[in-house]
Amino acid sequence: MLSKKMEKALNEQINAEFYSSYLYLAMSAHFETGGLPGCARWMQAQAQEEWFHGMKIYGFVHERGGRVGLKAIAAPPADWASTVEVFEQVREHERKVTGLINSLLSLALKENDHATSIFLQWFVSEQVEEEASVDAVLSKLKLIGKENSSLFALDGELGQRVFTPPPAK
Ligand code: FEO
Repeated sequence: MLSKKMEKALNEQINAEFYSSYLYLAMSAHFETGGLPGCARWMQAQAQEEWFHGMKIYGFVHERGGRVGLKAIAAPPADWASTVEVFEQVREHERKVTGLINSLLSLALKENDHATSIFLQWFVSEQVEEEASVDAVLSKLKLIGKENSSLFALDGELGQRVFTPPPAK
């Protein structure tokens, strides 16, 4: 059984994951209108991944006999000045999410809630991957600079990304 405190914190994380999904969908729409369909697809896969994260916690709360309470999802921004700026915001956002996951895990450890600690470890590893993947895109974007032909090549590469949900345990 989850403590009320843990249940509340997990519900807040569900909201944060769904907000992340919404934010990346807004970024996808931005690229869609901006003529970078590969970046749009990358962001759409990212949005699907965040939705999956939210649903994973949703399932866990129920599994532990808790109650899911869904809150309003804040509106994300709609415009960015450049492609680099979009990906820099992704990086900043993912660092923030890493902090949220770490705080959740600290709470689980403090409460001796071993089941939640083990569950959250998947998210700790996932955040390492997420930060590394956006860092890789940013490094390439910075190398490209203002070279449009390379940006279109990178757009094609990013458009290969497909979200595949990990197999159920
Ligand atoms: Fe669900 Fe990108 O963290």
